Amino acid sequence: MAEGEFVKVAMVEDVQPGIPLAVQAGGHKLAMCNIDGEMYAIDEMCTHADASLCDGDIEGCSIVCPLHFGSFDIKTGEALDPPACVNLKTWETKVVEGEVHVRIN
Ligand code: FES
Repeated sequence: MAEGEFVKVAMVEDVQPGIPLAVQAGGHKLAMCNIDGEMYAIDEMCTHADASLCDGDIEGCSIVCPLHFGSFDIKTGEALDPPACVNLKTWETKVVEGEVHVRIN
């Protein structure tokens, strides 16, 4: 698989607003989030400790970690609230004929 290639990770209807969906792309574990119909992909694991953000809550444009309640901006990956202080990686997405694709890099 070439670097920079888009790969299918889900169908649009699988990514419900407010409910992060765990997906995999090129061996990376990601959390796919639907905000007002736009698809955003972030790293699944919190940067603070060992917790899946897919078990967290989406509040507006942020996602709250279920373990210590740090939060991140879903669109930018920015760590917003302690104890999270390291930004998340974000991943480029696109929708093609009802499929959600993520660029591997
Ligand atoms: S593991 Fe996410 S804030 Fe601590």
